[in-house]
Amino acid sequence: MPDVTLTTLQGLKQRGEKIVMLTSYDATFAAASCAAGVEVLLVGDSLGNVLQGHDSTLPVSVADMAYHTACVKRGNRGALILADLPFMAYATLGQALDNSATLMRAGAHMVKLEGGAWLCETVQRLAENGIPACVHLGLTPQSVNVFGGYKVQGRDEARAQAMREAALALEQAGAAMLLLECVPSSLAAEITRAAGIPVIGIGAGVDTDGQVLVLHDMLGLNPRPAKFVRNFMRGQSDIPSALAAYTQAVKHAQFPAPEHGFSA
Ligand code: KIV
Ligand code: NA
Repeated sequence: MPDVTLTTLQGLKQRGEKIVMLTSYDATFAAASCAAGVEVLLVGDSLGNVLQGHDSTLPVSVADMAYHTACVKRGNRGALILADLPFMAYATLGQALDNSATLMRAGAHMVKLEGGAWLCETVQRLAENGIPACVHLGLTPQSVNVFGGYKVQGRDEARAQAMREAALALEQAGAAMLLLECVPSSLAAEITRAAGIPVIGIGAGVDTDGQVLVLHDMLGLNPRPAKFVRNFMRGQSDIPSALAAYTQAVKHAQFPAPEHGFSA
């Protein structure tokens, strides 16, 4: 398989072929995910939860993200590596540029930021400096204290409209990709249709251009999984088979099922 680039992902969207993304934090799982056909390895700041044992992503540092990005890079076999900018790493333009440079030098091909339309200038400056950006909308876990908990976002019409407008403004500003977490499936479908750039979903229904899950969740290691998680170890005898089952289920739009999504 040739290396996955932004052009590859745009082609997949245009052809209506689903994009398979999965979180990855180390070389061994990165290689196994590539062998299973995962196209985008997300070095997520969810590593604060699943690797470090914190109860949120807020304690994760840029150095933590750079370390795990470098680990994933060594195991990567042709996937696109997307790395999260952690909490407070992009509060100013200067921080966004410096910290993104650190992650790109560690091996990322794209960085992800959580927010909304207020990130337009940041996204534009990153693109001008050679750094593609994915913007994470909806339930953005770095803002859990503002939300007052992990809740579905965009259920009321005013918030839904703000999300639609943010998606288009960010695309206009030069965002390479969008990621929607825990938003009503109908809203995610609408935003995906309206966007010219790939839209990946988690807890956002089957109609986004691709899907992502946290590795540990889809391997059945989370004792209290969210509603949008499927345990892909079920019925499989080993981890490589579970990873392949995930890829196939996403490619054939068999995951997520309606019960994994949220209503408006
Ligand atoms: O950090 C992460 O794993 C993420 C995904 C849940 C999208 O941002
Ligand atoms: Na994240």
